[in-house]
Amino acid sequence: MFSGVTRVSLLHDKFGRQITDLRISVTDRCNFRCVYCRSADPENYRPESELLSWDELERLGRVYHGLGIRKIRVTGGEPLVRKGVEEFIERLHGVGFEDISMTTNGHLLAGRCERLVRAGLRRINISLDSLDPVKFEQLTRTHSYADVIAGIEAVQRTSMAPVKVNAVLVRGINDGEVEAFAAFARERGIIMRFIEFMPLDADRSWTRESVVPAAEVHRRIDAQWKLEAIPNEPSETARKYRFADGAAGEIGLIASVTQPFCGHCSRIRMTADGKIRTCLFSKDEHDLRPLLRDGASDDDLAFFIRSVVHEKEPGHRINEPDFAPPGRTMVSIGG
Ligand code: 5AD
Ligand code: SF4
Repeated sequence: MFSGVTRVSLLHDKFGRQITDLRISVTDRCNFRCVYCRSADPENYRPESELLSWDELERLGRVYHGLGIRKIRVTGGEPLVRKGVEEFIERLHGVGFEDISMTTNGHLLAGRCERLVRAGLRRINISLDSLDPVKFEQLTRTHSYADVIAGIEAVQRTSMAPVKVNAVLVRGINDGEVEAFAAFARERGIIMRFIEFMPLDADRSWTRESVVPAAEVHRRIDAQWKLEAIPNEPSETARKYRFADGAAGEIGLIASVTQPFCGHCSRIRMTADGKIRTCLFSKDEHDLRPLLRDGASDDDLAFFIRSVVHEKEPGHRINEPDFAPPGRTMVSIGG
């Protein structure tokens, strides 16, 4: 009976995609410096005052919830370096979000998992780009391999199991480890996801040749352990597979470059300083902070968000001849 009202209040873009999924970056800081993300040189972080406060973020959470956002992923930078993230998750839970997840590099995770579960965190993704500690340390420019493995093991002991582990494959760096990662998934009963390298690195070293296509990853794993496709929702980024021999674990392939899934995208992002990005590769950002700090009402905020989402771009255009990467890198967008 009230469907007309509901439709008006939900978030749709002009191509008819409904937006139900928000990724919030809570900090631009990170304690890692992954080669496919950051540069080796220290960067200038934004001053704290430029970041949205937890109160501002909770208020926006309420507005987004009213607009039909149902899934929230808390990202960074590295979200666990910002003090108070557990309480923030609790507050999001209080707003009514059931599906709250986090992407983390895992370094600070082991001791904090249980608290995060109590706060309402439902799922977690941990980045792990090599199973060889020396290579891991070259890739992340840290000495954190053991801490990340401890983080993975800690998640496996909570209700957030099975953990999703993300590896970005870069040709000539870690593409030799595909089978080893698959074995890791089987041994530990984890969901191992392979993400195609996207042109979002600070060093601008991305080339088409450095991308390891998802089809190749599938072929190589399938040659060793037969894979069976698991049906998924159209808006899911990963194609999912289980092992036909019944082993534990799962494989996810995220073919953002070779088989873009933009047509089914249900996501928007918000940077730590309060800018909406309707695509990872958006050229424009839409700043909520001045509205928040100049007395806008919740209705004003909702109106602004709705208008911005309406103009969400059809796709990322990585494969177009005139493609140019966005000004921001993955780190400041919030993967
Ligand atoms: N291409 C693909 N994935 C990336 N990530 C960071 N930079 C890139 C890139 N250039 C991933 C990280 C992490 C998530 C936040 O984004 O590995 O899993
Ligand atoms: Fe930090 Fe994640 Fe970027 Fe690595 S990919 S430097 S962990 S933000």
